[in-house]
Amino acid sequence: MNVDAANAADGQRDPIVEHIVGNSADVPEGAHIVVEVNGREIGLFNVRGHYYALLNHCFHQNGPVCRGAVSGTLDANAETGWQKVWTREGEIVICPWHALEFSILTGECLAFPDKRVPRFPVKVEDGFIKLTV
Ligand code: FES
Repeated sequence: MNVDAANAADGQRDPIVEHIVGNSADVPEGAHIVVEVNGREIGLFNVRGHYYALLNHCFHQNGPVCRGAVSGTLDANAETGWQKVWTREGEIVICPWHALEFSILTGECLAFPDKRVPRFPVKVEDGFIKLTV
């Protein structure tokens, strides 16, 4: 019995398994949806043909971050000569409650880089979106 199965048997948590959560046509490029797996809401994002999965939970006040708008962000740094530039279009989700921005690719909060939205492995096989939770 592996550790996950043992924990599940002890009622500590569900085993980590792969779930088919939709069809790739359900999440075309630039789109995102929220699915429920084992009682957890998880956002599925298609960014330029690559799929990402984030827990639909914002660390700030437990907001439904994955139901927010997908956007880019303003940045200014030494590389831009400290001029504001629009960047990372399609890679940022904005929490609908208080507008904290998160990288869809990494889960990182842009304002508080030590805070992240948990990510899950996701892939597409034979047109099915498979999420490992
Ligand atoms: S709950 Fe997400 S920004 Fe406040």
